[in-house]
Amino acid sequence: MTGLYNPHRIGGAMPHGGLKRVGILTGGGDCPGLNAVLRAFVKTADARFDWSVCGILDGFEGLFRPDGVRELRVEHVRGLLPRGGTILGTSNRGDPFNYKTLVDGTVQTVDRSGDALARLRELGVGALVVVGGDGSQSIGLKLSQTGVPIVGVPKTIDNDLSATDITFGFDTAVATATDAIDKLQSTAESHHRVMIVEVMGRHSGWIALEAGIAGGVEVILLPEIPFRLERIAEYVQERDRRGGKFSIIVIAEGAHQVGSQAMTLQRQDPLAISVRLGGVGHWLAEELGQRIHHEVRCAILGHLQRGGSPSPFDRVLATRLGAAAAHLVERGEFGAMVALRGAEIVAVPLSDAVGVRKTVPPDGERVRTARDLGICFGD
Ligand code: F6P
Repeated sequence: MTGLYNPHRIGGAMPHGGLKRVGILTGGGDCPGLNAVLRAFVKTADARFDWSVCGILDGFEGLFRPDGVRELRVEHVRGLLPRGGTILGTSNRGDPFNYKTLVDGTVQTVDRSGDALARLRELGVGALVVVGGDGSQSIGLKLSQTGVPIVGVPKTIDNDLSATDITFGFDTAVATATDAIDKLQSTAESHHRVMIVEVMGRHSGWIALEAGIAGGVEVILLPEIPFRLERIAEYVQERDRRGGKFSIIVIAEGAHQVGSQAMTLQRQDPLAISVRLGGVGHWLAEELGQRIHHEVRCAILGHLQRGGSPSPFDRVLATRLGAAAAHLVERGEFGAMVALRGAEIVAVPLSDAVGVRKTVPPDGERVRTARDLGICFGD
């Protein structure tokens, strides 16, 4: 890391009056609503503050490429509200503080934060808005500690950021997963099968829990509640004895047995910030199939949950956060993230956003409600 970022030296950032140019990027896994944030931010920047907006492409990666930026004007964000994905592109590589490259097949990690700061100066941006999950917000926090004026906007379908009540993308992902469960119900029933639905959720089982309740499933398996195979097998057999000839199990990709860890895929991206999870759904189908009389099948929803048009709830939340981020920049409230608390959009310190992950409380009201209905958590 080299030197503190001094926006005054480039004449770009004078938080109160004089701010002319602001950078924005989307980092980490995409999710429905990212484009809605970009649209809201660019429109507010234009209509209220007359700033120019510089889009950094592919997360932080764009800072290291000569062609890694583009202008974002109002005409570029027209029609974006219903579009999934992000027009800026995103990446889970390119952490400036731990920049990974492959040299002769070996991963080398270097601190390129000095290059990132130099690029921001060169671009003349007086503030940088980071739209991302915990990984991107952690990088944002580190950049802010070097003096870069940062405002964070939380996103993730996993809904696992603790400083905000709900992240946009989550509602759409739950709707996608619920729709899939609804469809699997009829085929499971026709064939008297047990259908396993693997959903995303590496550390937090919010998607599995909410889609499981909304879809009326029999078993919900979460990373927060380690399960026992025998317990699931007993439950399915008991349901069978009571006339329930089919069952739906929803399992988060990060769920695991008591005493073991989340399953990872064999093929990993050596340059990625996080490991790829997967495989637990098929593994469970295999193991359960050996213990019960039913045929067991597995459907993996994977990236379907990250795609598609954002739900109305996500469009509104993303729009509110995008506009609020512009107001934070204007007020010079840096090192902060916009967040939803109750019904209000507020600003929280970035350090709060990345400190603790929001996981499903195993004894919380939603889990208790599900148990009231007889849903099994495998414990
Ligand atoms: O963080 C959101 C998430 O959807 C996780 O649930 C999942 O493990 C991860 O992204 C997958 O990311 P990628 O597409 O980079 O493999």
